[in-house]
Amino acid sequence: MTSTPSLDVRGLAYAYPDGHQALFGVDLTIGRGERVALLGPNGAGKTTLVLHLNGILAAGAGSVTVAGLPVGKKHMAEIRRKVGIVFQDPDDQLFMPTVREDVAFGPASAGLRGAALDAVVERALEKVGMAGYADRPPHHLSFGQRRRVAVATVLATEPEILVLDEPSSNLDPASRRELADVLRSLDVTVLMVTHDLPYALELCPRSLVLSEGVIAADGPTREILSDEELMTRHRLELPFGFVPGSVA
Ligand SMILES: Nc1ncnc2c1ncn2[C@@H]1O[C@H](COP(=O)(O)OP(=O)(O)OP(=O)(O)O)[C@@H](O)[C@H]1O
Ligand SMILES: [Mg+2]
Repeated sequence: MTSTPSLDVRGLAYAYPDGHQALFGVDLTIGRGERVALLGPNGAGKTTLVLHLNGILAAGAGSVTVAGLPVGKKHMAEIRRKVGIVFQDPDDQLFMPTVREDVAFGPASAGLRGAALDAVVERALEKVGMAGYADRPPHHLSFGQRRRVAVATVLATEPEILVLDEPSSNLDPASRRELADVLRSLDVTVLMVTHDLPYALELCPRSLVLSEGVIAADGPTREILSDEELMTRHRLELPFGFVPGSVA
């Protein structure tokens, strides 16, 4: 890899304040423009890892570097702009009276004003098919609509890396496909946490398996999903009748 990776995680370990250790030395590198799925069973540490990527949690040991910038107190504002996290629950992300204000929040805190700000908000909402909803209160929208607005709030900040925690959960099949179209159309590095293995195969050429707080596998998604022994060992199961090798 010649250019600086979008994300570099070295020896990341973390224990929660109650003493429960969730990460035991995670190493991974994601190159610019890659789309990578982060797979793993419940409790593997996926969300804990995600919360380190923009400094919500601070590493117990090891380091996280985003586009060459170490995640830490010193560069926090810039890190928060570079790492766009779409949380599993959109209600953790939407807190303004209108959709427009929620989407404007990030670019406005970065200094954007007036017509330039309006244009960014408009474009982000168009990308997720929510252009007609700018003046609605987010809490009046359906779950799937809120998820899309949450994606728009992050797109509006033009992040270096887009991190999505379970983006397809609770979406109807059409919304799930539309979000896939959005993600494919973006020219941005993507790290996607998912239990939706067909979605990982569709969107991410590469997958990481996180299991018991360490990276247990890293390779082409199709090869990982086809490795029955690996899949069973890490409690990963394909949906009934789904054969990864048969998908074009
Ligand atoms: N606030 C907390 N305090 C103590 N332990 C926690 C806390 N949050 C998570 N844990 C523990 O850390 C481990 C990793 O949790 P994490 O939420 O990162 O898993 P996950 O891989 O995201 O799982 P899921 O697929 O269910 O979302 C689990 O054993 C969990 O019980
Ligand atoms: Mg989680």
